[in-house]
Amino acid sequence: MLQPYSLLFCHAAQVLTLAGGPTDKPLTGAAHADWRIIEHGYVACLGDTIAAVGPMDELDAARIGPDTRVVDASGRVLMPGLVECHTHLVFGGNRADEFQRKLQGESYLDILASGGGILSTVRKTRAAAEEELLQSALHHLDGFRRYGITTLEAKSGYGLDAETELRLLRVAQQAGAQQPVRVVPTFLGAHVPGPEYKGRPADYLAMLAADVLPQLDPAAVPFVDIFCEEGAFSVDDSRHYLQRARELGFGLKIHAEQLHDLGGCLMAAELGAVSVDHCDYLTPEGAAQVAAASQGRTVAVLLPLVPLYLRQEKYAPGRQFIEAGLPVALSTDFNPGSCPSKNLWLALQVACLKMGLTPREALAAVTLNAAWAIGQQANCGSLAPGKRADLLLLGVPDYRELPYWLGENPVEQVVIGGQFV
Ligand code: NIG
Ligand code: FE
Repeated sequence: MLQPYSLLFCHAAQVLTLAGGPTDKPLTGAAHADWRIIEHGYVACLGDTIAAVGPMDELDAARIGPDTRVVDASGRVLMPGLVECHTHLVFGGNRADEFQRKLQGESYLDILASGGGILSTVRKTRAAAEEELLQSALHHLDGFRRYGITTLEAKSGYGLDAETELRLLRVAQQAGAQQPVRVVPTFLGAHVPGPEYKGRPADYLAMLAADVLPQLDPAAVPFVDIFCEEGAFSVDDSRHYLQRARELGFGLKIHAEQLHDLGGCLMAAELGAVSVDHCDYLTPEGAAQVAAASQGRTVAVLLPLVPLYLRQEKYAPGRQFIEAGLPVALSTDFNPGSCPSKNLWLALQVACLKMGLTPREALAAVTLNAAWAIGQQANCGSLAPGKRADLLLLGVPDYRELPYWLGENPVEQVVIGGQFV
């Protein structure tokens, strides 16, 4: 006899399965929106795993036992936990002092060139005790969980020396172990050249490649990222560094085409990067090249709250990226400079308003495609039997209300690994 379910959500007005599309690559083109919604459905879990998903009239009542926890989801939407695939979770202090400078017209790169921006957070991060950084990361993870984030990528990048960068990765791992949101660490030592290497970006990358990368285990820190931009690292230096990271067994990511069209996205896609992030200056033609170079496997992670917060007019043309065959994911880019927000729902809404994504495309971009962008597609991102039981109960009856209630958090309950958290 089959085991009784441990947890059963029933009578949901809609179950957004995110399933039904191709399973061998991220969603793009028509498939980006063509996933299955079940009206009047259920989701059943066995321990930490999803056991069955379907319409109520197909629920196997024999599997409801005396110990099954039954939750009435009527009038509500059920969906997979959100996957936040690009954050700079661990940092010291904040940059509220720079907000006023920005309002007065100073640009992001001007503030960075004057020793502020990322470098000001580096000073505060280096000065912070490890315990202080851990408490701050835990505080922010708690905030993310309330928004329904169940898996989150966390980059280092505010240490910019070997010792502090390793400390930030340690903090991200500890924070992951001390609360329920699953944390996937990424090494972004190549955020900008460390202050000790001013004007010598290639020497700084050589130091990271020699002193830090060999100390990292790709099983624990699966990705290496780099900021390819004026004032950070050139395309050639980035290529060289990412090639070395790939040889050592890391997955690759890049911050590229954020403020200029330098060609970093295409370079990274040619190296097999799992994602290219920002892309506000990537053209639709460039997107088609990235899609072709990666056979639709590299995900463009778009960060719509960043241009909003930096007061830029230009937003990545996400709609055209999808039409060009490039899979799109969405993230906040949570960090103390260009986006101090954890509200991934707001990012989804701004992506619909400013990047032309449809609500269904945007929902895929914060779940299944975001999971692909951090190599977690086998574990999360859709409600399919065998995946981890990470799911959300939302206080709306129809998914079309999700992009509509601007800035609101629709989450009523969060389940991670079959447990209410
Ligand atoms: O993804 N673009 C580069 N890095 C971060 C911002 C970091 C900061 O300003 O502190 C980003 O936007
Ligand atoms: Fe970023």
